[in-house]
Order: sequence, then structure tokens, then C-alpha cells
Amino acid sequence: MSEAIFNSELQLINSNKSIPNRSVLAALTNKQSNEDGSLTEQEIRWLERRAKEGFGVITTAAAYVHHSGKSWAGELGVHSDAMLPGLENLATRINSHGAISLVQIFHGGMRAPTEITGLTPISSSRNQTKQSSTNYSRELSENEVMQAIQWFVDAAVRCYNAGFDGVEVHGAHGYLITQFLGRKTNNRSDNWGGTLHNRSRFLIEIIRGIRRETPKDFVIAVRISPEYPSCGITIDESIEVSKHLIDEGIDILHLSCWNIMNNTYFGDKKLPITEVFSRELGNRIPLITTGSIWERSDVEEAFRQGADLIGVGRAGIAHPDWPRRVHTTGNSRPPFTEAHLLEADLSPKFVDYMRLWDGFVHG
Ligand SMILES: Cc1cc2nc3c(=O)[nH]c(=O)nc-3n(C[C@H](O)[C@H](O)[C@H](O)COP(=O)(O)O)c2cc1C
Repeated sequence: MSEAIFNSELQLINSNKSIPNRSVLAALTNKQSNEDGSLTEQEIRWLERRAKEGFGVITTAAAYVHHSGKSWAGELGVHSDAMLPGLENLATRINSHGAISLVQIFHGGMRAPTEITGLTPISSSRNQTKQSSTNYSRELSENEVMQAIQWFVDAAVRCYNAGFDGVEVHGAHGYLITQFLGRKTNNRSDNWGGTLHNRSRFLIEIIRGIRRETPKDFVIAVRISPEYPSCGITIDESIEVSKHLIDEGIDILHLSCWNIMNNTYFGDKKLPITEVFSRELGNRIPLITTGSIWERSDVEEAFRQGADLIGVGRAGIAHPDWPRRVHTTGNSRPPFTEAHLLEADLSPKFVDYMRLWDGFVHG
């Protein structure tokens, strides 16, 4: 990898903002928010530290846009103006270090447990889900679909008002937007289901609404799971949806790969997912790729595949200075001691959560 590429700015075309280097802290749920969804000082501190130590983009944890989408305890909320003081504080502190600040806006859909929301989980269709006391989600009416779009748009406007550079719309990992996109989870026969065009409408209308209600320099990133078999998401359809999103003027496309080395079949070829997107989309959109990137050689491979921006999750949790360290000292891999993680500005609650991630915390 040329260090020069990694450290070079990336100019975003639509929003006209520039990212100071190619490193991205991916969205990382950390359970540190208050019961009402407001930010805690610990959550602000861990994100600010990574902005200070050199990440070009800082993404918050998934943040619910409406109470019905809250999917775990300690989740960040962007559902109400009451969240604004904490959000303003976070945006100011990230921005003061020159990083681009993004809030990941999210609704869990059928994966938002009744236990958390007190409601029957909602979705594109009536789907089986263990998170519901009835074992099924409730299909949204057409009016409710329009309302759900507005929840995302209102949340984005709130993030703009708080001072964030932009939002990342969470279209990955099987949550509400994925449930609309997926052939298996969307069985609607109205304008919001059936063809890919109709299944994408929910996401596309969210993007249109955000563009309409925020100024032009507000960054819109979209995160997708290029393949998500349980919802019926395939790589071919994901490419089509991505082309549509580019036509709608998004600024960044984020591919959640879990492991960038994994290959997929595309036509008669077997290629890494990022390479498929880069070949198919050309230079039309900056691509973030994320998944099992730790070392300098992984970064080189991600650039070779055609990524423009390098996303990390776990390496950024363990190493606040990952963007600088990756060129020089190398990175230690899990497991990490509790003392190491506390020094990296994780709270004891966050460290405990990381114990659920196999082999991450020592002992
Ligand atoms: C503790 C933890 C929390 C995560 N929370 C989110 C989240 O809120 N939103 C999201 O899109 N992905 C989330 N992910 C996925 C990461 O953003 C990332 O894609 C994944 O960890 C793979 O990257 P890595 O191998 O660099 O860790 C989470 C992952 C971890 C380990």
C-alpha cells in the first residue's frame, strides 16, 4: 500500500465535503447509551478518542429512528429532539478533530424485540420472528410505510441540526430496510413489494426525503449487505440497488463484507465482493469496504479490490490510533486484556459486551 493513498483526502462529489484520509470507524454498537437513548459521556469519549487519533470518518453505533425500532438495551436514539444536547456535544467533539461525523440511522423492524419496545415488531410483511410474543411480525400498512420513511428523514434532519456531517443509512444486516429489500422477507403485492424496483422503494424514498430536507452538503452514506441469504438478498440485486442509489445522489456506498477475502460467484467468475462492486460500478461512487481488516496487507488487498475507503470495526475498538499504527507498528490481534481495552477508552460495560464476541477479550 502506498501510505500516500491511505493518507490522501477524498473529495465527495455531491456534498462537496472532503474526508481527510481513507480510514473509517464502522458503526459499532456498544450498549453505553442511557435507557432513554441519550448519549453518555463514555460513549462520546470512546468515539472522540478515535477522531483525535486519526480516523477520517467516525460512524456512531446504530441509532434507532423510532421507538418501535429499538433493538437492544443501551442503544443510541435519534428518535426525538430530546436527544439533541448529547448529539450536539458528540458532533462538536468529533468535528473538532477534523474527522467526518456520521450517525448510523437504524430501525430493527422484525428484529426489534417486544421485550424492548412493548410492541409487536413491524416489518415489510408478516414474517416469522423469535423477537415477537406472537412469533410473527406485523405488516405495515401503506400509510405506516410512509410514516416509517419519515422517521428516517426526521432523524437525519435531527442529525443535521445537531451538527453532524451526515448519516449512514443502515440498509444491512437483516434490519428493517433489508427486510423491505429482500425477496424472502417482503411478500407485499402493493407498490412496496414484488419487483426489485418496488422492494427498493422504501430505501430510495428515505434517500429522496433526506436529500429534500437537508442542505446539499449533508453527506448520505448507505450501508448494505451485498448478500444476505436469510432475507433473500443476492449480489446481482444488490448491484442493481446500488446503481439506483448512485442515481439518487448518495455520497458513499458501504459494503459490509465481514471478511473482505470471501469470494462470491458473479456470472461465471468467483471474485471478492468488493471487486465485483468496483468492476460493476466503476468510479461512480466512493466505496467503503469493511470486514476482518487488521494489518497493512489487508488494507493493500482492500485497495487492490477497488475500495476507496477502509472500514474497520474490531481493529478500531482495540486500537484508537489504528490509522497511524497500520503503517508502522503493526497491530496486535485479539484477545485483548481488560486493562488494554479500558486504556483504549472502553467503559467496563463496553468491555463486558465485547466478551460476547468470541475470543476478543482475554480470560
Ligand atoms: C461490537 C460490535 C458492534 C457492531 N455494531 C454494529 C452496528 O451498530 N451497525 C453496523 O452496521 N454494524 C455493526 N457491527 C459490524 C461492524 O461495523 C463491522 O462491519 C464488523 O465488525 C466487521 O468488521 P471488523 O472485522 O473490522 O470488525 C458491529 C460489530 C461489532 C464487533
